[in-house]
Amino acid sequence: MNNQRIGFIGAGNMARSLIGGLISSGVKSDRLFVTDPNEDIRKSFTKDFSIKTFADNQELVEQCDVIVFAIKPQVLKMVATEINAKNSALYLTIAAGIPSESLNNWLGSNKAVVRSMPNTPSLVLSGASGLYANSQVSEEQKEIAESILRAVGITVWVDDEAQLDAVTALSGSGPAYFFMVMEAMEKAGIELGLSAETSRLLAIQTGFGATKLALEMDDAPEELRKKVTSPGGTTEQAIKTFEEKGLVEIFSLAMKAARDRAEELAKELGK
Ligand SMILES: NC(=O)c1ccc[n+]([C@@H]2O[C@H](COP(=O)([O-])OP(=O)(O)OC[C@H]3O[C@@H](n4cnc5c(N)ncnc54)[C@H](OP(=O)(O)O)[C@@H]3O)[C@@H](O)[C@H]2O)c1
Repeated sequence: MNNQRIGFIGAGNMARSLIGGLISSGVKSDRLFVTDPNEDIRKSFTKDFSIKTFADNQELVEQCDVIVFAIKPQVLKMVATEINAKNSALYLTIAAGIPSESLNNWLGSNKAVVRSMPNTPSLVLSGASGLYANSQVSEEQKEIAESILRAVGITVWVDDEAQLDAVTALSGSGPAYFFMVMEAMEKAGIELGLSAETSRLLAIQTGFGATKLALEMDDAPEELRKKVTSPGGTTEQAIKTFEEKGLVEIFSLAMKAARDRAEELAKELGK
């Protein structure tokens, strides 16, 4: 994506992370642009990243080869129908729940659209994003879209857009599941007599350490779990309780509920 000019519509949290990540990965600031209705926000992007900003989305569209929609899903239809979208550009949306076909229609059809589902750890450059490309997207444009999301974490492509609803249920909503496990461990630690502060610190650091091990070791999470579960030991007792209470089934039910809601939202938001 050497000479591509990348423009972000919406200078919010995600645009800030993506632009920060791209600049850290070596993209020159004169290839990045952003629009936002708020003048103070525009000034902060110029100050922090030395990039050109616009109040008018159309001005940005005319200058860029890649347009990233980094606005709330509720305003995407209005913004996409208002701009005069050129055919040659790649349109990348990170707005949760809006189907690529809806965006393509709002832009005037026959547009190259990549729909991505990032997650909140993207804000600390540790995100996980699912991506889907419509049939208009070239291989080169796919690589560009992937490099943009890779600036804030890992990326995976899905061939069937419906799978983005599963990605939403897994990595999109997933950070909240881990927060809930940390909350539950913190509460249980307090019940066992630890101070609230100690319990929270141990719960969070254990989550971090376990994740780091899972990322850095070749073993699958199941193997890592077995390795710390000695026969007759303490972990075995805890795991037995989780199994008896149906933890795995609970995750399956919870993620199906999240997937179903993602499907419903896509229908509502894509109208
Ligand atoms: N945050 C995450 O971790 C995360 C994860 C997954 C997906 N996403 C998706 O990423 C998108 C952006 O999220 P965010 O957290 O960055 O949102 P955000 O912080 O609210 O940023 C959106 C920005 O767009 C501006 N805006 C509103 N209308 C505009 C218009 N017509 N033209 C140009 N800019 C406009 C907003 O200004 P005002 O505030 O003045 O309206 C705001 O500064 C959302 O669609 C969200 O679903 C975010």
